[in-house]
Amino acid sequence: MKILIDSIKQAEVKKWFTDYVHTFKMVDRNIQQNIDLKKDHTMRVCREILQIGAQIGLDEDALRLAEIIALLHDTGRFEQISRYQTFMDSKSVDHAELGIKILKHFEVLKPFDDSIKELVYCAVKYHSKPSLPVIENENCLFFSRLIRDADKLDILNVVTEYYHKNGGGKNGAIVLDLPDTPGISYEVYGNLINRSIVNIEHVTNLNDFKLLQAGWIFDINFQPTLDSIKNRRYLELIREVLPESKEIDEIFDVINLSLNYSENS
Ligand SMILES: [Fe+2]
Repeated sequence: MKILIDSIKQAEVKKWFTDYVHTFKMVDRNIQQNIDLKKDHTMRVCREILQIGAQIGLDEDALRLAEIIALLHDTGRFEQISRYQTFMDSKSVDHAELGIKILKHFEVLKPFDDSIKELVYCAVKYHSKPSLPVIENENCLFFSRLIRDADKLDILNVVTEYYHKNGGGKNGAIVLDLPDTPGISYEVYGNLINRSIVNIEHVTNLNDFKLLQAGWIFDINFQPTLDSIKNRRYLELIREVLPESKEIDEIFDVINLSLNYSENS
């Protein structure tokens, strides 16, 4: 399928997104902070996806589509945080599904062909799923992989900055209001030692959450993403904010081995 994306239509989508986010002017400072956080995250994910896309050789139309997907992937987050005061899907709503509903309601993709609409909906739907389905349209899977990588890169940017920030500025929504208790969960250890991504249901505290993010290394699709993770030292930055522990050292041995192996392959 040849992808064709008109730059004027793309600009209309950008305008819609900016106007839509502006409708969320919250009285509560904490919620407004999280609206701004997701807006800034979205802008950076757009840049990340363009960088990965360019490095793997996408043409201009495919890059425009990738940027639209990045722009819209977290559309549901704004209503989620303002309505439920959390980014935890299990305690509120599936933010990807909510985003698709909103995009359909506002007919944001009306200027595009049905095949493009379906690609965007598909990538938005799968961007936050624990794993991708085995059977789906190849283009859908490709753009889903792209947004998953770009999204992870910026989440790693946000959380590593947050973990290393000294003093105040606590924002529970970033870490899903998880308790900062000692130890790690047995299931999280088991997942990572077996080179699997961590099931969010097993995450019980902040240490587990940090390990879940380090374990994303097992779910990266493109070499430029792995290169960025390494160059920006995201794994080291996560390790530095975890306690000294034999189990955590073992986990990071497996993770680092996997990262170095992917470099040489
Ligand atoms: Fe995101």
